[in-house]
Amino acid sequence: MSQGQRGTWGSGPGFILAATGSAVGLGNVWGFPTQVGQGGGAAFVLVYLIAVVFVCAPILLGEVLLGRYAQLGPAGAVRKIIPTGPWWVIGALAVAAGTFILSFYSVIAGWTVQYLWLAVTSGLEAGPEGATALFGDVSANGLRNIAFTGFFLAATAWCVRRGIQRGIEAASRIMMPVLFVLLVILAIRSVTLPGAGEGLAYYLRPDLSQVLDIGIIGAAVGQAFFSLSLGMGALVTYGSYLKRRQAARSPALAIVGIDTTIALLAGFIIFPAGFSIAGFDPTSGGPGLIFAVLPQLFATLPGGLIFGAAFFLLLSLAAFTSTISLLEVPVAHAFDRWNWSRSKAVLVVTLFTFAFAIPSVLSFSGVPILANLPVIGGTFFDLMVNVWNEWALPIGGMLLSLFIGWIWGKKKAGAELSLDGAGFPSPALFGFLIRFVSPAAIALLIILRIVG
Ligand code: PHE
Repeated sequence: MSQGQRGTWGSGPGFILAATGSAVGLGNVWGFPTQVGQGGGAAFVLVYLIAVVFVCAPILLGEVLLGRYAQLGPAGAVRKIIPTGPWWVIGALAVAAGTFILSFYSVIAGWTVQYLWLAVTSGLEAGPEGATALFGDVSANGLRNIAFTGFFLAATAWCVRRGIQRGIEAASRIMMPVLFVLLVILAIRSVTLPGAGEGLAYYLRPDLSQVLDIGIIGAAVGQAFFSLSLGMGALVTYGSYLKRRQAARSPALAIVGIDTTIALLAGFIIFPAGFSIAGFDPTSGGPGLIFAVLPQLFATLPGGLIFGAAFFLLLSLAAFTSTISLLEVPVAHAFDRWNWSRSKAVLVVTLFTFAFAIPSVLSFSGVPILANLPVIGGTFFDLMVNVWNEWALPIGGMLLSLFIGWIWGKKKAGAELSLDGAGFPSPALFGFLIRFVSPAAIALLIILRIVG
């Protein structure tokens, strides 16, 4: 590996911005409300928050520390610590998850860009039927979606090829704060709509009997991993571009806090607005939930289309800083491990990803075999979301936490944490969480899902 291919962050804030850029994306604004809608409202939110604090936050810190220590992506970091044995699976899983998640993620990103286009050109249909029909039209047009997905992938490839500082850092710096302000404005509008109370109750008052539903727990844990970009070494890779003397702990906590706040804000936008529309059923929205609700919210605002355009522009950019990190993981692997040039790695991975994006696109355009898979049922797109988010990422997270806690070991991981000076969490607390709490919680979940 040549240092020229790798690079480092320009500044401490550069890392926070880029890593937050990776975490904040469609997972927060599209995925979180969609999953809350499908998985029982406030019960899902409660389980999600518990998973973030006790299971995910320690792994996130562990991933960043591991990357900073090894100065390599997940596969390289694992091999640096233990050159032989089965732990190479972590790296393999990371490369596969990065590539396949990118393949369906870029499809949703393609819809987002089309909504931006529509807001600017012909307007967004605002009535309940119109908005749902509009999403149907947008998602069903196979050729157009292949084009937009390809465009999004090409833009991501271009940015990743430019390398770490000029591309990724610069893109994150401007849009994150603007996105946050816009979300706050929309949330305020949404909760003050007539009929918003019902939506707030759905979102905030958990039905405790559902908190123990294993399907809900599985979906919430998977969503937490997805939203925080965890379990596939994205944060090991980003951490590897930190210099050893740059801080890891407070950035890690900041990323968890910002990502969770933005997901919660998205819920405050979608549910009150959704319930203020007569006959709204959050469970029936599926992947189109936010695309059907938001245009109706914009219609209640003076100058709503400007809000709509700004919103979809920022959401596209938020998705962009996430796709960059998804692509960066397999690309970094190719130059760390196989000595490929950055350009070759970007080209090969992007083409492979695009090939797998096509069946996800066509899941929505009436290709019967993709819209209803033989044997398993459901769409090809749903299958991808399920396999990679709900299974691969938590399993990857469990392996990473076991590796960090037991193989790299609490002494060395703790020493790496201590480079940041004293603070919360202490090496002892971190060691306890990453050795016992995170892996045991995930293992239990996996066992219960398999037997259940
Ligand atoms: N966290 C991103 C989002 O919420 C998605 C992502 C997952 C990015 C895994 C990188 C790695 O949109």
